[in-house]
Amino acid sequence: MDIIELINKKKNGEKLSQQELQFFVDGVCDGKIKDYQTSSFLMAIFLKGIDFDETYNLTMSMAKSGDVLNLDDLGECLDKHSTGGVSDTTTLVIVPILASLGVKVAKMSGQSLGWTGGTADKMAVFKGYDTQISTKQFKQLIKKNNASIISQSKDFAFADKILYKLRSETGTVENMGLISSSIMSKKIACGAKIILLDVKYGNGAFMKTKQDAVKLAQVMVKIGKRAGQKVCAVISNMNQPLTKYVGDNLEVYSAINVLNGEQNSLATLSKFLCQKALMLAGKCKTENQAQELIKNEINSQRALQKLKQIISAQGGSTECIDNPNILLPKNNCLEIIAQRDGFVTNIDCSLLGYIEKDLQKVDGEFVRQDDCGIVLNKELGDYVKSGEVLLCAYYNKLDNKEEIVYKLNKVYQLGTKIIEQKLIEQVIE
Ligand code: URA
Repeated sequence: MDIIELINKKKNGEKLSQQELQFFVDGVCDGKIKDYQTSSFLMAIFLKGIDFDETYNLTMSMAKSGDVLNLDDLGECLDKHSTGGVSDTTTLVIVPILASLGVKVAKMSGQSLGWTGGTADKMAVFKGYDTQISTKQFKQLIKKNNASIISQSKDFAFADKILYKLRSETGTVENMGLISSSIMSKKIACGAKIILLDVKYGNGAFMKTKQDAVKLAQVMVKIGKRAGQKVCAVISNMNQPLTKYVGDNLEVYSAINVLNGEQNSLATLSKFLCQKALMLAGKCKTENQAQELIKNEINSQRALQKLKQIISAQGGSTECIDNPNILLPKNNCLEIIAQRDGFVTNIDCSLLGYIEKDLQKVDGEFVRQDDCGIVLNKELGDYVKSGEVLLCAYYNKLDNKEEIVYKLNKVYQLGTKIIEQKLIEQVIE
C-alpha cells in the first residue's frame, strides 16, 4: 500500500477500507507520509467525501493514535464539544458549573480552526495553564476537582493534532467526514462516556445551513453510539457571535461575566447545554430542576470558584478571574462608523473571525497577541443611526491598516428588513 495509491483512489471517488485508513493515520503519525501528501489526501476527501463507514473507521484510527483512556474507575465522565464558532466560549461556562454540581468532566479541546476560536487558545489567557498534561495527571485532576481541560498531544489523539493544523492551513476544514472524525476521535480518546455536542450553523459556522448541521450532528451521534457512548447534539445558531466580544482575552472576560451572573446569548446557550448535560448524567429528572441547580451554582459563585480551582490545578494564573477588567484591551483602537441609518440585517461572523486573526499578524505572520480583539456595539435587529460606532478593533501594530479597515467596514450590513434568529434550534439524541 502507498499513499499515492490512496490519494488516487479517493480522487476517483472510491471507497477506502479500514486497513487503508489505518495505513494513512499510521503514516501521518510516524512521519512516513509527508505533510504535502497528507494535504493532498485531505483535499481528495474534502472534494469527494467519505461515507459513514469510512468516517467511523477514520475516527477510530485517529482516536487510537494516542492513548485511549479508560475512565470507568471515576464513574461516568462527560465531555463536550462545539463544532466551532465566533465568540463561542461555552466551555468556560459549562465545565465549572457541571464540575461544581458533581459531574465529572473530561474535556479534550482544540486550537482555533479556520476563522473560529479554540478552547485550547483561550486557556492560554490564564498564564501558565498547561493543556498538555499526562494521562495520569488528567485522571488525577478529574478525580480531585471533577474536571480537567486538555488538548490534543502526542499522548492524546495525536493524528488529530497533525491533521487539524494542516486542515486549517489548506482550506480543508468544512467537510462533514473530516469534522466528525476530528471531533469524535478526541471524544473517544478522552474516555468520557457522555458526549454533549454543540453543532453550529450559520455564516460563522462550518455548516452554513441548519439542514447540514443536522446531518453533521446525526453522523457524530451515530459514531458515538457505535462506540458505546451516550450522545446528545444541540443545533445552535451562529449567524451572530455569542457575545459582543471577539478575541481570546475578551472571550475569557465574557465567560467570567456569565459566571458572575450576566445574561446574554452565551449565558442562554451555556445554561441550555448544562441542562442537557445534567439530565444525561442523571443528576436531575426535570428541566426545571436542572435550571434551578444551574442558577444556584452561578448565584452562589460556586461555579466561579470551581473555575479558579480547575485553572490553578493546571498551573494557570487566576488573577483575571478575580479582576476580569485586566482582560479589557488598552492598546490602539480602530472605530468603524455607520454611514447610514438602518437595522442590522447581517453580521459576517467568519469575516470577523478572520479579521481578529489579522489583528495579530506581524509582517504577515500570525503572532499570538491575547490583547487584540473586537468589541461589537450592535446586534442583529438593532436600529443604527448614521455616525454611530458599530465596532471597535483593538491592535498593537498594523502594517496593513487600510486593508483591515476595508474588511471591518464589510462586517455589518444595514437594511430595512429584520430577520428573526432562533438561538437554539433542535436537539438530536
Ligand atoms: N472542532 C474540531 O475539533 N474539529 C473540527 O474539525 C471542527 C471543530
